[in-house]
Amino acid sequence: MGEKGNILSISLVAFVLLILLSQARGRYLADGRFDPNYNPHDFIDDSGACPRCHYVDERGTMDETGFIPQLVDFCHECHTVEDLGRSHPIGVDPTDVYWRLRLPDDFYLDTEHNMTCITCHKGHGKYLSTEKTFPFQKPVNPDAEKWGEPYYYKTYYVRRSDPEKGYAVMCNECHEGYLE
Ligand code: HEC
Ligand code: HEC
Ligand code: HEC
Ligand code: HEC
Repeated sequence: MGEKGNILSISLVAFVLLILLSQARGRYLADGRFDPNYNPHDFIDDSGACPRCHYVDERGTMDETGFIPQLVDFCHECHTVEDLGRSHPIGVDPTDVYWRLRLPDDFYLDTEHNMTCITCHKGHGKYLSTEKTFPFQKPVNPDAEKWGEPYYYKTYYVRRSDPEKGYAVMCNECHEGYLE
């Protein structure tokens, strides 16, 4: 086999491993029920992942509430720009003299003081909740009754939501009365 063939088979093995790994953390339990602890963002607990979002200084100390602008590239490795379509603008400072917004403490900006993905999306949040994120939301486990279990809804990892007002409660932290 030539060099190209080797590279091809190595990447094939890597690909199969990736599939196996993602299946190991699958959505369903062995008996077919949806796993309420399923979280496609489990990778966040891998030690190598921390500096993809957190600021780490020269001495290796991690800032728990300091986030680098490049975390956006990390998100885009899995959620491509094409998949996301039109999304909220980022990379602006909502507290500057132009916007003059006062943000809640947990609406983190990046180290350049700009809005980024984690301003709205939690880093270590849960994937599922028994509370709806917005009205008329469909559960991930529509057959819950069969198992005598509660319905589970995707949180979309958002910092604020309400089963009746939906995302408006988050938007309104910055856009006063925006969606009321
Ligand atoms: C995808 C981005 C991302 C990655 C990767 C990440 N974090 Fe975080 N981390 C956040 C965000 C955002 C917060 C702010 C609280 C929140 O949204 O969960 C945070 C908060 C924290 C906090 C403060 C306590 C808390 O939960 O509020 C600690 C401690 C922390 N992270 C440790 C880590 C460690 C250790 C790693 C690697 C094993 C890691 N983080 C990986 C985004 C990330
Ligand atoms: C290593 C890959 C990976 C990275 C990096 C990643 N995600 Fe995800 N994320 C996923 C997967 C897989 C899902 C589940 C999507 C699905 O089932 O359709 C998901 C789900 C989500 C969801 C819920 C949407 C849904 O329909 O399930 C949001 C919101 C999200 N990610 C935002 C982010 C943000 C913001 C970042 C960066 C801070 C990020 N992700 C980084 C893999 C990743
Ligand atoms: C102003 C707040 C806000 C910002 C900033 C933001 N999002 Fe979101 N995002 C949301 C809300 C609200 C939803 C759920 C409603 C929807 O799907 O539009 C969402 C949905 C998503 C989803 C799942 C639905 C889909 O379109 O696939 C992903 C993935 C996601 N965001 C990733 C990101 C990434 C990556 C960034 C940064 C580049 C980002 N978001 C920035 C508020 C935000
Ligand atoms: C952390 C503060 C913050 C939050 C939360 C927020 N926004 Fe914004 N939004 C801004 C800022 C700042 C701008 C101006 C950005 C620019 O024009 O570059 C903006 C601009 C916009 C615009 C006009 C830009 C465009 O793409 O047309 C819309 C629409 C919008 N936001 C909708 C929303 C919605 C819907 C939500 C809730 C899901 C939301 N925003 C949550 C700060 C925020």
